[in-house]
Amino acid sequence: MRSAVVLAAGRGTRLRSSKPKVLHEAAGRPLLGWVLHALAPLELDHIVVVIGHGAEQVRAYAESLPIPGISCVVQEQQNGTGHAVRIAMESGALDAATDVMVLAGDVPGISTETLSRVFVERGGAAAAVVTTRLDDPTGYGRMIRYGSRITGIVEERDASPEQKRIDEINTGLFAFEAQALRDALGQLTTDNAQGEEYLTDTVAYLAQTRTVVGLEVDSDEVEGVNDRSQLATISSTLNARTLDRLMAGGVGIVDPSSTYVDADVVVEPDALLLPGVMLHGATRIASGAEVGPYSRLTDTVVESGATVAFTVSTGAEIGPEAQVGPYTHLRPGTVLHRGAKAGGFVETKKAVIGEGSKVPHLSYVGDADLGKGVNFGAGSVTVNYDGFNKFHTTIGDGAFVGSDTMLVAPIEVGPGAYVGAGSTITTDVPADALAIERAERRTIDGWGARNRERHTKQSSSEPTSPTESGQKDN
Ligand code: UD1
Ligand code: CA
Repeated sequence: MRSAVVLAAGRGTRLRSSKPKVLHEAAGRPLLGWVLHALAPLELDHIVVVIGHGAEQVRAYAESLPIPGISCVVQEQQNGTGHAVRIAMESGALDAATDVMVLAGDVPGISTETLSRVFVERGGAAAAVVTTRLDDPTGYGRMIRYGSRITGIVEERDASPEQKRIDEINTGLFAFEAQALRDALGQLTTDNAQGEEYLTDTVAYLAQTRTVVGLEVDSDEVEGVNDRSQLATISSTLNARTLDRLMAGGVGIVDPSSTYVDADVVVEPDALLLPGVMLHGATRIASGAEVGPYSRLTDTVVESGATVAFTVSTGAEIGPEAQVGPYTHLRPGTVLHRGAKAGGFVETKKAVIGEGSKVPHLSYVGDADLGKGVNFGAGSVTVNYDGFNKFHTTIGDGAFVGSDTMLVAPIEVGPGAYVGAGSTITTDVPADALAIERAERRTIDGWGARNRERHTKQSSSEPTSPTESGQKDN
């Protein structure tokens, strides 16, 4: 029975945040999520997450993940990594465990390959410790070796000047034989510089009678996140990894350095991402769609053959062959059916735009259903809000709404109807009718010329005061 303990009780003081450290996001996923997703393919029997700071928020997130076997245990006071693991071992979930992996919840770069290697490398040893070498090992626990055997780990604050020169450090990732770990945890004391129970002290205890092996890995995989700058660095590393995975799967990415794709976004082969694209949340881009340049899509689906340029979209469905942008804002509940268009300076919300329908320029379409083949002219608006409530607009198939039309909802424009440009329409328009609402036009011949003449005469006959003349040129 293989299980894992993930340490996530710490505050993360150096992030200077009210949010628990492990819930800070890197490349679209909380730090803890990266660790738990890396563990998932190992199909462990139990994953016990030790929580403390922001416990309820962290628990809610951990238990929401679609990964079997996750449970949380609260460490009320952070009395050290050894204390945290002891609480996990005493939670009951690990009673039947034979192999226990321990790692921190703030190492989002860890790969599934390394995690599975740690179990394998332990073999018959009491424990395996994953180590790395750093140019500046300050702050980390140093590995004490006797030849190839590991005999202990000394924390920075307890290390002698000679030990501080050791550049091989403890990454905080271990695999233990469960019974050996239980025995060793029972021996821990707080007799050290920090007055904490150190998990690292189990190594020296076990090494007295058993073997402890080391597994050295590349440092970037096991780097923890302690401050905002490290968070930014790891974000860009993880984003680059996501983009590499997508490109290996056949996705076109013109400029990876300006493209940001969250971990759970789906992009199908032969989709094309132009520079400046950000894809967040549960977004899916189908094969043959083109997104960008400069677009931010959240929880948005883009179907095959659609193009989306210079657009901000949240919670929208962009159908096959649809065209969106440039400079378009799609808000939640927007659905563009096949071949529909939402063009420049158009904003939509809870709007279904039927097959082949066009909203080409400068419009607001909210709380509206447009049928097929509708033309919604430039500058036209569904007037959906009276200051208290929202009302719905329905426009039938093939209707033509002229430019600069205000459709005051609730309202229905029947199929095949026309609305004359510049109209403010407050009641339903029957199918195939023309509705036009304009004041009668007056034309006054020669008015412009007479007007200019009048002003010229006035200004030459006006007595000018010194202050007035001083302002004339303004
Ligand atoms: C620890 C190791 C050190 C190693 C370093 C790698 C110990 C004593 N030291 O040091 O050898 O080089 O990690 O980053 O283990 N945590 C809890 N409860 C606690 C204390 C910590 O859950 O009571 C969690 C933290 O949230 C964090 C992890 O354990 O995720 C490591 O704790 P941290 O305080 O960062 O340990 P370090 O002092 O950095
Ligand atoms: Ca740390």
